Amino acid sequence: MAFVVTEPCKGCKYTDCVVVCPMECFYEGGDMLYIDPVECIDCGACELECPVNAIYRDSDVPEKWQAYIALNAERVKTSPLIKEKKEPLARSM
Ligand code: SF4
Ligand code: F3S
Repeated sequence: MAFVVTEPCKGCKYTDCVVVCPMECFYEGGDMLYIDPVECIDCGACELECPVNAIYRDSDVPEKWQAYIALNAERVKTSPLIKEKKEPLARSM
């Protein structure tokens, strides 16, 4: 079990999630963050922090965003670790 970052994070990256994670399992992509499913201890702290509700427990990811489960697991391998909050991206929509 692990938590997963999904679509609403895209173009957003509020990074409130990063600072509450006790395991440092967030990795930063160009337009969104990813959670390492191996490092995540399933504490749920990040889910409550995200202002746009982008984070879900893997078993609760909405059907339309199921592909993000594999995407998180894959992208953490090539993305840098992020441990601190930073300025969010401006939403273009
Ligand atoms: Fe980190 Fe907990 Fe979120 Fe997993 S559920 S990414 S351990 S804050
Ligand atoms: Fe993204 Fe929400 Fe974290 S927008 S960076 S998952 S606080």
